[in-house]
Amino acid sequence: MSKLPKLGIMGSGSGSNCQSIYDAIQSGELQAEIAVVMSDNPDAYILERAKAWGVPVEVINCDGFKTKFPEECQAAVGARMKEYGVDLICLAGFMRLVKQPLLNAYPDRILNIHPSLLPNFPGLHAWAQAVEAKALESGCTVHYVDAGMDTGPILGQAVVPVLPDDTAESLHARIQVQEHLLYPAIIKKVLNELV
Ligand code: GAR
Repeated sequence: MSKLPKLGIMGSGSGSNCQSIYDAIQSGELQAEIAVVMSDNPDAYILERAKAWGVPVEVINCDGFKTKFPEECQAAVGARMKEYGVDLICLAGFMRLVKQPLLNAYPDRILNIHPSLLPNFPGLHAWAQAVEAKALESGCTVHYVDAGMDTGPILGQAVVPVLPDDTAESLHARIQVQEHLLYPAIIKKVLNELV
């Protein structure tokens, strides 16, 4: 790829993973550009971060649904991503299920980061699931997105031990330290392999 590859980032919350991607770009570690940051939550801090960087932001229309991501809305996101010239979509704490309309627009070009060692603890609050299950270790996974919930092919993982006195919050904080290292590194690898 001769020009800088463009990332489209989608998140619902704080955006610390988006921040780690931005920081890797700023430091020269990751050769890419964030073309747009989109959120289904108009109040998400991820949008504030992106605005401060001068990156375009968009609020995703979900037709008023709290958790559903209607098909026509997914198609609209795919079309907007194309308009921004996005090469790779990175889900960074995006809490709705991506399905066919968006997957078809970006086949094998949507990544997700999940806070567990998949296939263990898919779904919501994976860090709390690990503490609840008294797992000895958890971690994070970057994977391609498919139509399932946290089921796509795994690209990389980092292990985080679960300590005897861990709370859900303390475990999540240590998992996030690893997420912030893993995600930019895997994005770099995937971009290097894009033709
Ligand atoms: C991250 O821990 C991410 O792995 C998780 O949400 C958090 C978002 O944090 N994602 C999921 O649980 C997706 N199933 P951030 O907004 O600070 O990046």
